[in-house]
Amino acid sequence: KSSPGLFFLPGSLLKPSLSAWPSSVVPARSNVTLQCWTPTKGVNFALRKGGIPLESLQSPDSVEGLGEFHLTDLKTSNTGEYTCEYYRTGSPHISAQPSDVLLLLVTGDFPKPSLQTHQRGKVTTGEKVTLRCQKPGNIVWLVMFALLKAGSSMPIQLRGPAWKEIDFSPQNVTVNNTGNYSCVYYWTRDPFWASQPSDHLTIWVTDATSRDYTMGNLIRLGLAALIMVITGALLVEAWCSQKESPRGSRPHSCPVE
Ligand SMILES: *[C@@H]1O[C@H](CO)[C@@H](O)[C@H](O)[C@H]1NC(C)=O
Ligand SMILES: *[C@@H]1O[C@H](CO)[C@@H](O)[C@H](O)[C@H]1NC(C)=O
Ligand SMILES: *[C@@H]1O[C@H](CO)[C@@H](O)[C@H](O)[C@H]1NC(C)=O
Ligand SMILES: *[C@@H]1O[C@H](CO)[C@@H](O)[C@H](O)[C@H]1NC(C)=O
Repeated sequence: KSSPGLFFLPGSLLKPSLSAWPSSVVPARSNVTLQCWTPTKGVNFALRKGGIPLESLQSPDSVEGLGEFHLTDLKTSNTGEYTCEYYRTGSPHISAQPSDVLLLLVTGDFPKPSLQTHQRGKVTTGEKVTLRCQKPGNIVWLVMFALLKAGSSMPIQLRGPAWKEIDFSPQNVTVNNTGNYSCVYYWTRDPFWASQPSDHLTIWVTDATSRDYTMGNLIRLGLAALIMVITGALLVEAWCSQKESPRGSRPHSCPVE
């Protein structure tokens, strides 16, 4: 893919990155900060929503190549596709290519979905886990589904479009996947209306390769040792009672009763 920014200013303006804090999926009436980051210092930033210029930041506000856009008291109409770009102070017409699109979802336009799993919330490392997100009622239209994890600033997975429900299957589950999950569904295209988030589902992932496994092995080893001792004792006893009978005298190695 060719890039106009790099064509005009070879090597000097790289694509910025755009992220949302605390998350790109937030409830109505909350605040979110969109952070536009570039490796270049001393630049101005501009934020666009759906391609339309929304806000720009002058140089003093941008520290260390970081431009922060504070969106407060969010409404569901703030949902949309955001991009940011930056340009050198004094040359506002020459900008780098825009960042990748960040989809901001302000939740609350539709009733919440349900999130369920068959594993009763307990999983061991590497086990396959399926989280099913299901739209309520009989609302019939195609939607996208997003799996959210508390503390993550981005959805864990996006899937769809689908009519009613979707199964999320996180790959290569580790203890790091322990946490509180929820999901939302949203319109596949602008204006991307989003549901309320589902109730939290807590997933516990335990490490099968460490403690449980080692404990299991210790128990097995202990049992094996015990069985050997008992077998040994029985053998000695059998041998001794055999040696005992013919001449009525015990061999040295046999215990005296
Ligand atoms: C959002 O920001 C405004 C002003 O910065 C503040 O007064 C308000 O308490 C914040 N709201 C939340 C939910 O944090
Ligand atoms: C999961 O692990 C397998 C091998 O154990 C690897 O081939 C695969 O790429 C991994 N998948 C992800 C999403 O990390
Ligand atoms: C789990 O997370 C920690 C810290 O975030 C990281 O150092 C570690 O590599 C992760 N482990 C796996 C198996 O991903
Ligand atoms: C999940 O949420 C509950 C209640 O909000 C909290 O007590 C718990 O610590 C959370 N669990 C994890 C693993 O974050």
